[in-house]
Amino acid sequence: MSRILIVDDEKSIRITLCEFLKAENIQADSAEDAATALQMLEKAPYDVVFSDIIMPNSNGIDLLIEIKKRAPSIQVIIMTGEPTVETAIKAVQQGAHDYLPKPINRKMLMKAANHALQVKSLLDQKAALEELNHIYQAGLERLVGQRTTALQNAMQSIIILLSTMTEIRDPYTAGHQRRVGNLSAAIAGKMGMASSTVELIRIIGYIHDIGKIVVPSEILTKPGVLSPLERQIIQEHSQKGYEMLSKVDLPAIIAETVLQHHERCDGSGYPRGLKGSEITMEAQILMVADTVEAMMSHRPYRAALGLDAALNEIEKNSDKLYNPEIVSACKNLFLEGHYNNDDSEHIYYPIGVV
Ligand SMILES: [Fe+2]
Repeated sequence: MSRILIVDDEKSIRITLCEFLKAENIQADSAEDAATALQMLEKAPYDVVFSDIIMPNSNGIDLLIEIKKRAPSIQVIIMTGEPTVETAIKAVQQGAHDYLPKPINRKMLMKAANHALQVKSLLDQKAALEELNHIYQAGLERLVGQRTTALQNAMQSIIILLSTMTEIRDPYTAGHQRRVGNLSAAIAGKMGMASSTVELIRIIGYIHDIGKIVVPSEILTKPGVLSPLERQIIQEHSQKGYEMLSKVDLPAIIAETVLQHHERCDGSGYPRGLKGSEITMEAQILMVADTVEAMMSHRPYRAALGLDAALNEIEKNSDKLYNPEIVSACKNLFLEGHYNNDDSEHIYYPIGVV
């Protein structure tokens, strides 16, 4: 049932208007001043307030302002015995629904009341729809969040699986990809790259030698010097890795960086002999990390050469084979940051990359 509050210091007006409303099956209450009206509005959900302007100790416009502050959807209709255009304008400017000159007969009252109740009802429906929409949106965002997490988890598992598959066939380089991935990510972080780029570079590092899956394991694990043909077969791993990764729905930069990770800045690398900025920044970082990690690790054909030799190697070839900025970041990482080779798995698949 609709609920209306009449605020007027004249008792006879309060009684008359309430009776008119009750006769139309509208619940009507009354208050003799603004303070009482505000107390009643606190306790019950009124739809419309009819308020006199001039009352002892209170003012109808101030009451209107207070009501609009507390509950903007309540419709307020101003009544006055001394109507002026200025008062009417002031009332409307403060959010009054309507303005009625006294005396108010039943027809005037009901016309204004019905219209105000209609507006209030529409506002209530709008608020209910907005609330429903809010709940729906929140549910939708939760669902998208859950699906994104599931997708990221699946992607992480696939990357770990791909990384592990390569290393099963080449136990001498077990952990190499993870160490290269982690070192590449640390270098990228040191260079101030965005965290999403850092994590993408880590992932590329974890699978950068995936193309070695097609290289016979007797060549991969051969302890002696490789023949030119064997060397050529091994060198094909970057192209093979590119071909494999190009076929799956991953960002193109992953396959492209895998293809380029044996390029060198002076064009002496393979497979395409790219130079400088022709090589992606991700691949330029990976080639430095790959070189350092390989020299620090044991190989079937030699013992580990150590950190000093690895850092000397990249320093010596800075600006020739490698990007000097990356070489400097890598050196600072080890010498100032006391970085230790990290072969643990910690993938945080960058949001938005899937
Ligand atoms: Fe490689």
